[in-house]
Amino acid sequence: MFFDAELYNTLDKPWETILKFLGKTLPDLGFYSEEPEVVMDVGCGPGYLSKNYIFPCFPNLQEMIAMDVTPNMIEEARTRHPHPKIKYVLADIEDG
Ligand SMILES: C[S@@+](CC[C@H](N)C(=O)[O-])C[C@H]1O[C@@H](n2cnc3c(N)ncnc32)[C@H](O)[C@@H]1O
Repeated sequence: MFFDAELYNTLDKPWETILKFLGKTLPDLGFYSEEPEVVMDVGCGPGYLSKNYIFPCFPNLQEMIAMDVTPNMIEEARTRHPHPKIKYVLADIEDG
């Protein structure tokens, strides 16, 4: 599997579908909590979605762990979308 951050940034994304999922489907399911939360974004890619769309959905967020297995995705995320509450981690979710 190969992902390239530079190429990925040039592609169109299904933003409407993603925004509907985050803004309607998850609240309808009662997903969000009033309690302080730690959120994990697995496969965060270059971090645009993590910081600009997922992060704002959680007003009580304490920390977000944004994980990706591809080094250039994590480098891109750390460079372009830093935030004191987002920790970008290079890791494979399939590792035990
Ligand atoms: C289609 S991109 C989505 C990126 C971002 N979530 C977005 O919506 O813009 C999928 C990402 O998942 C990552 N990925 C794939 N398998 C993974 C695994 N086993 N553990 C962590 N990240 C993984 C890839 O490196 C890639 O950056």
